[in-house]
Amino acid sequence: MKRDYTTVLQLTDLHLFADPAGLFNHINTRDSFAKVLSHIHQHYERPDIIIITGDMAHDGATETYRFIAESLKTFSAPVHYVLGNHDHPENADQAYPLEWVTTSNHCLLSDWQIILVDSNNHPMPDSYEGEVSHAELQRIKALIAQHPDKSTVIAMHHNLPDHNDRGINFEVRNHQQVMQCFEQLPAIKLVISGHVHQEFMIVQQGICYLSTPATGYQSLSKSKCITNDAPGYRWLKLYPNGRFETDVRRTNIWAS
Ligand SMILES: [Fe+2]
Repeated sequence: MKRDYTTVLQLTDLHLFADPAGLFNHINTRDSFAKVLSHIHQHYERPDIIIITGDMAHDGATETYRFIAESLKTFSAPVHYVLGNHDHPENADQAYPLEWVTTSNHCLLSDWQIILVDSNNHPMPDSYEGEVSHAELQRIKALIAQHPDKSTVIAMHHNLPDHNDRGINFEVRNHQQVMQCFEQLPAIKLVISGHVHQEFMIVQQGICYLSTPATGYQSLSKSKCITNDAPGYRWLKLYPNGRFETDVRRTNIWAS
């Protein structure tokens, strides 16, 4: 039977290295990434679209971006991405686009559109904060005006409301301005992000703001203890009329 929804797989904060032995906060992120992909293959249907919300290559190497592409080829689904604060834009540009990895920051579906937003405007040294430029906000408004019949997902690396419980500013520096802008655009149903390496959901003014666990290192808890949470990923099911379902899966949830 034909499905009436589109499945979107969100992966985030891979922090991979060209060196297979590379560690990020004592985690071999390549091993962890491989376990996540294997978990998806074993336990879930094939995604229609894959969205990566940044921090793909911790070492920023072109070879690492190529490795990510090769790893995702088996899904036979188009891959869209935004870059995170740890990424290297020029080296990503060396690796992409490929036949299955697009550099397009817009994905048009039958009932929905996904707008991939750069949240790395004006990066500041030693800051985890992001920023969304005026030009990006104008682009979002224009796309929504151009496709008035479609519901919208925004995908970005940094967070809009505070998705962190450690007292560090991880969100977008101009988040108030961006959120006020989004609240004037009822087509926006969902904002998906990464960056905090934790799962959060905040619903505000009819918009669902989500952050998703990393495929590798999971952030410390509020008490600064190492969390026992396993690496994970997010599914979205986008139905007609703006309805959606979403869920986070972690590699230790389903025993194989
Ligand atoms: Fe990250």
